[in-house]
Order: sequence, then C-alpha cells, then structure tokens
Amino acid sequence: MVTIYVNNKPIICKDKELLIKVLKENDIFIPHFCYHESLGADGNCRMCLVEIEGSKRPQIACDTFVYDGLRVHTKSESILETNKDILELELLSHPVDCPTCDQAGECSLQNYYMEYGLYDSRVSVAKNKKDKALDLGSNIMLDQERCVLCMRCVRFCSDITKTDELVVMGRGNDSYITTTPFMRLSNPYAMNVIDLCPVGALTSKDFRFKQRVWFLDSTQSICHACSKNCSIFIDHNAQKNQNDHVHRFRPRVNTMVNGHFICDEGRLSYKKANETRKNDFIMKSRISTYESILKHTKKLLQSENAIALVSASLSVEQMLLVKELSEMYLFDVYYDYKEDEKFGDDFLKSSIKESNLYTAKLLDFKLVDKPYEESLISKSLILNFNSEFISKPRPIEMIEFLTHEGKFERSSSIFTYEYFHNDMGLLINSDGVISSYKKSSKVKSEKFTLLKILNDLLDESYTNESIYEKYKELFFKNIPYSKIMKQSQRLGL
Ligand code: SF4
Ligand code: SF4
Ligand code: FES
Repeated sequence: MVTIYVNNKPIICKDKELLIKVLKENDIFIPHFCYHESLGADGNCRMCLVEIEGSKRPQIACDTFVYDGLRVHTKSESILETNKDILELELLSHPVDCPTCDQAGECSLQNYYMEYGLYDSRVSVAKNKKDKALDLGSNIMLDQERCVLCMRCVRFCSDITKTDELVVMGRGNDSYITTTPFMRLSNPYAMNVIDLCPVGALTSKDFRFKQRVWFLDSTQSICHACSKNCSIFIDHNAQKNQNDHVHRFRPRVNTMVNGHFICDEGRLSYKKANETRKNDFIMKSRISTYESILKHTKKLLQSENAIALVSASLSVEQMLLVKELSEMYLFDVYYDYKEDEKFGDDFLKSSIKESNLYTAKLLDFKLVDKPYEESLISKSLILNFNSEFISKPRPIEMIEFLTHEGKFERSSSIFTYEYFHNDMGLLINSDGVISSYKKSSKVKSEKFTLLKILNDLLDESYTNESIYEKYKELFFKNIPYSKIMKQSQRLGL
C-alpha cells in the first residue's frame, strides 16, 4: 500500500492503481466521459485532467498510476479552468436539446456543465449538424449531435460482446458514431450501451419520451428471467390516482454476479411486472374473499390427499414455508424447470429459465417426472405454487397461488399474490450465489404476499428473516441474514 495526497488530504491505496479509480473509490469528484470501470481507460475525452505536483502540464487521471507520495490537485484554480475549457470543447456542436432529451437528469454532460460551465455559448459560427433519431436496431436510437465521442459504445461492442457493430466514421470535427457498414446493432446485450453512454446520444426506444427520470423511484432487485439472477434497479412510479407502474429495469453493479451488465431479454422482462393478476380471490370459479378461500384450503388440506408443485422461481423464504406446510400436512413437493439452450451463453445468460432452481434442489423437492404423474392417480388435491408446468389429468380439486393468469382459471380456487417487484426475498443463482431483492417502501401493497398466505395456512407469523434464520445452519452455511441483505454471498455448489 502507498499514501498519496489529493487536495492535500492523505489517501492510502494500492501501489500502481489507476488514479481515476482511486479518486472514484474515495468519492472524490473527477469528471470523465471515456473511462468506465468495465471498459478501462481510453484517454480520448481529456475531461479527467488533474494537476500533479512536479509535472509541467495537467495529466489525465485515467492514465496515471499512483505511487507513494504522489500529490494531486483536482480543485486548484488552474485545473478548474482547464476542465472548463475541455467541457466547452465537448459542447461546441452540442444541440443543447436537454429539455427533450431522455438522459436529462442522469447526464454527465449536463452535470459537468452545472459544475464547471454555467457560461453562455461563444460559438459564432454554425454548429456542426449531424443525424438525429437514427434507429440502430436492438431497441436503440442514436442522436449523433449529442455524442461526445467517448467510444464507450464502440469499445463495448468490440471488447465485451466482440460483435463490432459500432464504429467511428469521419475525421476530426466531422467524426460520428454509426453502425459498421451492412450491420445492425443486434447482439443480445446491446442495450447496455444506453447505460454506458454518459450523455443522451444513445437512448432506449422502449423508454424514450415515457418518463422524466427525476419522477422515478429506484428499488434494488434481481432479474427473475433466468437462473443467473442479475442485480437490477427497478425504476417505477405511480402517476396521480394510478397504481405503481414499472418503467424499466437497469443493471445494478454486482461483481459477484453480473458485473455492470444485464441481457436485453432480462431488461425488457420488466413488462411482466405490469401484467399481474387483478386483486381477486377465486373459489370454485367465483370471486370470493381471502378468508373464505383460506378456510376452504385448510379444510381440504386436512381431509384430502394432496400433492404440491412449486415454481423454481419462488424465493428461498417462500420455498421454506412451502416445505413447512408440506411437513405439516404430509404431502410431496415437486418442481419443474425449462432449459432453453438457444437462450444460454457463456457470458451472463443461463439456459435455465427459473431463477431459484438451486433452492428447490437444496430443499430436496422432487423433479417432476413420471412419479408425479403416477402419484397424481391416488391424489385428490393439487396445490400449485405459481408453476407453469402444472398438469391436471382429470377433474381434481386444485388450489393455485398465482401472480399472473393461470391455465386452469375456471376449475381452480386461486390465491393471488404479489409478484417479486413488490416483494422482498432471497434467491440463489446457478453459481451458488445468494442475493437479496428489496421491496420499495414507497409502494403500498395491493395484494398479499405469498409469505403472508403461507403463514396464515400454517397459523404462524414467520418473517423473511425468521424463516431464513431457522434453516440458516442446515442449508445456508450459517451466513448471517444481515450480510446477504447488504451484499451477495457465495454458498458454493
Ligand atoms: S454514442 Fe454515447 S457512448 Fe457512444 S461515443 Fe457517443 S457519447 Fe460515447
Ligand atoms: S442474464 Fe438472466 S438474470 Fe441476467 S438479465 Fe438476462 S435474463 Fe435476467
Ligand atoms: S476519462 Fe480520462 S481521458 Fe476520458
């Protein structure tokens, strides 16, 4: 370790670490466009210039490696003037269409202007006109005039996905980003360039002009669209007199799971959160009340010979309570899952589409196969916990616990419960990493959670924490609940 001095304050850091990384990790404001943690340095934007004692000229922090005794200034008068000049250069041909730009509110250019600029334009010649609203493919629109040519998007396609769909054409002031001739932006991770773009040059066709970002609330969650369990932010809000609406999923940095990225299919799976069942309980095909269906289910569980099928996407806590219920009423629990080889790859996407298969196996639930079909013959009640794979070979009593419309609407009794975006819980991914997703404190629940329904069936009052604590030693290597709430933990396979 070495000691460096930034604005005369000592910082202890690793020797030969990149200066910009040290500054960011220590929450020291350093403007930058081209450097990104996931892509490294490129040195093209010059926004990160700092003053280094003993050096004649300002140096870029993204190409400076720290050493013991290094003295850096980020706020001296001369460096602030330099940053301001570079920013003015970046803005020379900018259309300044912030009022109609989707990036407004989360735009580095806008933020730096407020920090360093606040000047009137000195440009007396016509601005350099380029193409606007170009459809690049994969849900992405490009505005070439807003681009600061940081190359993050180009580097993502060349270094991360290795698909090379984006290039810089032209020279000098006439340079612009476009697709490689005869190519469209079409890789399954393409929409990450929208998050990488520090300005409003790359925007999502799906999200464009729908919401101002300052009206959105962000909740820390986990994508449920495959067993990778990428960390995400759910951006949502409730319009006046309307229910909460999810507007987008965005990647949340998690070095143990997904790094900085998510796949496009997972990103767009936010739509399922807006398509949940209406808030109703159904008993024998009629709308009923929670109390009556609860009573009906308890009675059936006492008198009938039951079998249960769970979705392998239920949370750890939900599966543990199903396990408790199965032990109370002595029924077997089965699970099934879908494997989609075309979807899986060697980056993030897993061919297993269920998000918590690991837990179903850990709790010794049985895989749906012949035994399930055969054992159905002797059963008189099926409990379906949100599984899509349910079969009902003959008229048989069925209780379903569903978040979305089901296959057997007319012949089942149904408990409707909250989908994951309005709930909290734990998931274990295909690499054995356990992570938590949270519930937004701003959203009033419209439906009961599955935990509440299962607690009522068990006459218990477990919380997410207490049910996890009960089984922590047996299944989860004694990892404290509070630790998982803060950060993902590796259980191992
Ligand atoms: S489009 Fe965005 S990410 Fe790509 S070079 Fe321009 S500013 Fe950078
Ligand atoms: S890789 Fe899987 S978990 Fe990650 S965003 Fe895509 S679908 Fe969701
Ligand atoms: S961030 Fe250092 S030159 Fe762009």
